[in-house]
Amino acid sequence: MTDVMLQTVDLSYLAAAVLFMLGLKKLSSPATARAGNGLSMLGMTIAVAATLFKQEILSFNLIIIGVVIGGVIGAVAAKRVQMTAMPEMIAILNGCGGGASAMVAVSEYHRLSPRFETFLLITLLLSVIVGTVTFTGSVIAFSKLRGIISGRPIVYTAQRASNWLLGIVVICLTIGVCLSPANISVFYGLTFLSLLLGVLLVIPIGGADMPVVISLLNSLSGVAVSMTGFVLSNNALIIVGSLVGAAGLILTRLMCEAMNRSLTNVLFGAFGAVGKGVDVAGAAAVAGTIKSYTVEDAATMLENAGTVIITPGYGMAVAQAQHAVRELASLLENKGVKVRYAIHPVAGRMPGHMNVLLAEANVPYDKLFAMEDINADFAHTDVALVVGANDVVNPAARNVPSSPIYGMPILNVDQAKTVIVLKRSMRPGFAGIENELFLKDNTMMVFGDAKETLQKIIAYIKG
Ligand code: TAP
Repeated sequence: MTDVMLQTVDLSYLAAAVLFMLGLKKLSSPATARAGNGLSMLGMTIAVAATLFKQEILSFNLIIIGVVIGGVIGAVAAKRVQMTAMPEMIAILNGCGGGASAMVAVSEYHRLSPRFETFLLITLLLSVIVGTVTFTGSVIAFSKLRGIISGRPIVYTAQRASNWLLGIVVICLTIGVCLSPANISVFYGLTFLSLLLGVLLVIPIGGADMPVVISLLNSLSGVAVSMTGFVLSNNALIIVGSLVGAAGLILTRLMCEAMNRSLTNVLFGAFGAVGKGVDVAGAAAVAGTIKSYTVEDAATMLENAGTVIITPGYGMAVAQAQHAVRELASLLENKGVKVRYAIHPVAGRMPGHMNVLLAEANVPYDKLFAMEDINADFAHTDVALVVGANDVVNPAARNVPSSPIYGMPILNVDQAKTVIVLKRSMRPGFAGIENELFLKDNTMMVFGDAKETLQKIIAYIKG
């Protein structure tokens, strides 16, 4: 390959890296996220094309077959996936990223053995370890979310100690491979134990904490890709892997902050285990009576309000009620009601869950307000309409120190003059705790599927 060609490839990688960074920047706002995705796709296309060009591939047959099979599976899965199943899809994609990095590293191990440069061998082993941990960890995360295995934390005696021991054995085997690189048994022993480590690290984590784990695994898959980039001397992989690693880590931190929990608590707290972590009894000590209202009561209250703040939660996603929410908002606005939306950073089950659903229903972005920007306004609002939200509006986070969600920032819907809550029953949400909001004097419970209830309210208002 001539110098000019190599420079063209490097420039293409640089262009791809710039596009990835611009894409990531645009993903930080719902208004620009679509454009951000487009830029990142363009960057990836350039990076793949440059890589194929650089490798001076003689036969494209296998590559084309791989691209077609992978492309069809990816396109069909993306088209079919329900928004509520998005975390599962991301878990699988992370697993594929980690697994692919590990497999490339294993094949490079065989290609280069027994002559390794020290730096290259270390990055190769890191790629194998991080890639395999990401792969099996993601498979467990997927299985928990899918219900293939129990979503409850799987805990046993001396679990943490045995995991530490396994981690130490993995480090010892890594040193062993560095000392004796041609020893295939030690290399595969390391690979097998890393696969096991991924399983054992994720099984004690409750299914409900999986979004945080998935974000962390996403970051790890980036690290694995970056290490593989060093093994293959491929700048594009190094840059992309680092970006994914950093972005995943930042997202993990933001999610933990929004839940007021440390990463250690998420990873090792066994949140959701029976008798552990979830202080159901403490949080259940709420007094009051449930006041169930009809859709007619709710509709009358809404159309007579001056200001309404809609607070969506996971139940809106389950009911697929976003279009009905939008329709009701438009109807109220036509009657002169000021309608806004309050978005909690961890409402739903994945970052940006509510934003994505409301954007799908064409709710204007300027009507969506982040928690810190709208919380003070609830006290001056006539009606807070809670659509399938529970934990993110639970005042126990402010008032009950023994509650597992104590300290988590919440939307202050209880401060509105009237709170209308749409949910099907008194069942708790993700945290498994009762919610005193539902028993407050200013709260109207309207039981039923959120979409059906909203459609009935709309029909009533339309007369
Ligand atoms: P949740 O607390 O999980 O409550 C959702 C509520 O929706 C449930 O109480 C449920 O009550 C109701 N619901 C379910 N299906 C419904 C339907 N068809 N119609 C009407 N209501 C329905 O949700 P949230 O308030 O959005 O809070 C999210 C929770 O997830 C937080 O605790 C958060 O920490 C956690 N979490 C979030 C993330 C991210 S990134 N979003 C990550 C990890 C953890 P019924 O069964 O009675 O209907």
